[in-house]
Amino acid sequence: MSALVLDKPSPSITFPQPVAKYGAEDHAVWRHLFQRQAKLVADRACPDFLRGLKLLGLDDGGIPDFERLSDRLEAATGWRLACVEGFLPDADFFHLLAARRFPVTWWIRSWAKLDYLQEPDVFHDLFGHVPLLAQPVFADYMQAFGEGGLKAERLGALHRLARLYWYSVEFGLIQTPDGPRIHGAGILSSKGESVFCLDADAPNRVGFDLKRIMRTRYRIDTYQKTYFVIRDFEQLFEATRPDFAPIYAALEGQPDLAAGALQPEDRIFHRGSLDPVAGGWQDETPDT
Ligand code: PHE
Ligand code: FE
Repeated sequence: MSALVLDKPSPSITFPQPVAKYGAEDHAVWRHLFQRQAKLVADRACPDFLRGLKLLGLDDGGIPDFERLSDRLEAATGWRLACVEGFLPDADFFHLLAARRFPVTWWIRSWAKLDYLQEPDVFHDLFGHVPLLAQPVFADYMQAFGEGGLKAERLGALHRLARLYWYSVEFGLIQTPDGPRIHGAGILSSKGESVFCLDADAPNRVGFDLKRIMRTRYRIDTYQKTYFVIRDFEQLFEATRPDFAPIYAALEGQPDLAAGALQPEDRIFHRGSLDPVAGGWQDETPDT
C-alpha cells in the first residue's frame, strides 16, 4: 500500500487511558453490556468478528486495558488503539487510521443511558469496532480508508466517503453460508438493531455497490432503512481499491437516493416493507 507522508495528529488528541477515573459503576455497565451483547450477537455477528472477540480476549471482566489490548491486536494485524475523548476532527481521525491507530473513546455511558446513546463511548468503539481490526483484510481496508479520507477532504468529497463509512464500517452486513450476518460496529453495539437488521421485515437488504452507496442518504437517529450486504471482505477491499477521484467526479451530477429507495440495478436480498412504525421512521426527519 502506498504510504502517504503523514503529519502526526496533535499529541493532546490522544492520551494514556485514564484508568483511575473508572468507578465500580463504570465497570458494572461494561459487564452488563458485554454479557447482553455477546449473547445477542453470538449467532448474528459474522464469524470473523466472533473470532476477533476471542483472539483479543475481550470479556465481561470490566472496561479493558487499552495497552494490553493493543499488544494483542498489534500482534495480529499491526493496529493499536489510541485513547481519545470522543469525536475527532476529520483530519485527525483519518491520520490515525492511515497510521493503523484506531481512536477509542475512554469513557462509558451511564446506567440511565444504557440504550440511548448519541455519541460513541468505549463500549461502541471497543466492542463494535475493534474485533474486526484483527481480521487482516478488514484491517487493510481501514488503513486505506484513512488515506482515502485525507484525499476525499482535498477533493471536497467527504460526504461520499461518509456514506461508505456509514453503510460498511458502521452498518454493513456480510453473506455467510448460514445467511447474512452483521459486520458493522453501529449494529453490533446496539441491542435493538442487531436483531432488527437481520430479522425485521421493514428494512431493505441489498447487495453492496460502491457508487450506489455513495449516492445514498442515511438516517442517524433511527434504525437504517437499507442495509448493504458484502460477499466477503475481499469484495470490500477490491471495490474500494481504485482511485476515487474519477468516481467522485462522475457522481457529481447524479441525484442522491433516499435512504429507503430501491434501484432497478439493486441485487435485492430482502425488499423491506419500510413500515414506519416498525422502523421508528414515523417522524419526518429528513435523511442525512
Ligand atoms: N481508493 C480510495 C481513493 O482512491 C481510497 C479508499 C480506500 C477509500 C478504501 C475508502 C476505503 O480515494
Ligand atoms: Fe463507530
